[in-house]
Amino acid sequence: MSYQPVADPASIEEAAALLRAGRICAFPTETVYGLGGDATDPDAVLEIFAAKGRPRFNPLIAHCADLDMARRFGRIEGLALELAERFWPGPLTLVVPLVEASGLSDIATAGLKTVALRVPARPLARDLIASVGRPLAAPSANPSGRLSPTSAEHVRAAFEGRVPVLDGGPCEAGVESTIVTVGPDGITQLRAGALPREEIEAAMGVAVAVASHDAAISAPGMLKSHYAPGAKLRLAAAAPEPGEAYLGFGRLPEGIEGEALDLSPHGDLREAARNLFGFLARLDETGCARIAVAPIPREGLGEAINDRLERAAAPRD
Ligand code: TXA
Ligand code: MG
Repeated sequence: MSYQPVADPASIEEAAALLRAGRICAFPTETVYGLGGDATDPDAVLEIFAAKGRPRFNPLIAHCADLDMARRFGRIEGLALELAERFWPGPLTLVVPLVEASGLSDIATAGLKTVALRVPARPLARDLIASVGRPLAAPSANPSGRLSPTSAEHVRAAFEGRVPVLDGGPCEAGVESTIVTVGPDGITQLRAGALPREEIEAAMGVAVAVASHDAAISAPGMLKSHYAPGAKLRLAAAAPEPGEAYLGFGRLPEGIEGEALDLSPHGDLREAARNLFGFLARLDETGCARIAVAPIPREGLGEAINDRLERAAAPRD
């Protein structure tokens, strides 16, 4: 990267001024920090891809201040509209048909005829978008393929201070938004996330299909190896082997000698999701070759946690 260390904006207004001028700026949402840029400005969007080292075929989510703004860019109708009305603002991303000539950069959508839209729950994020007056394209604020950032410090560390960060403290959810799309057969989940699938099903009274892993991989961006720490991961491990660090869930086993952190001593999936990326980063920083991870239940938020762990453990090129 050619960027020099930069000063962080001290306020929403300062961050909005950077973004209005076509610069990029990281900002907090309730899920993870996003690396934002004006989604209608191709240069700003290109800058996001460059800073992240992200493959250009992988489209970005356009973050909107409210449903009205989102409907200027995507056709949100029928079941999709019901989902938006029920779950926005919140950690749900809707993939819907793109409104033609809406002004959204086709670099942000990777040239697709669909667009991923979300209205974040975090008021700071919505105030920022409203102040910019345009949707913000924002992938998670990490170099492509690495752990997602849940604090301003993570963002600064990952980009070595070369990206300005609007600091809003830690993110409460800790895993990215749930991504769904609506087709003739109903709702399909493309990525498990901070809004549990069961909650969508309960609210809408319909089953939510899960895109098969192969379909998810051929869908842009659902890359198998992602969120990768430097250390290798061994999943569903009841206890660490000698030389391994341990990431526990619901009480650490007795007599652990190496580095160990507990995602949630009481076995609370919300707490575990919030701690996931930060704790993986902390164990990774110890320089260990391998991190063993306790089994995590698959229901509720456990679906997203297991998805991120499986991608983090997937073989890399
Ligand atoms: O919680 C979140 O969603 C965070 C915060 C910053 O909002 N953002 C985030 O963005 O996780 P990112 O870029 O890391 O993940 C967005 C995912 C990618 O896997 C991308 O392929 C997918 O959304 N996506 C974007 N547009 C799409 C489309 N039109 N069709 C299918 N998938 C799409
Ligand atoms: Mg990401």
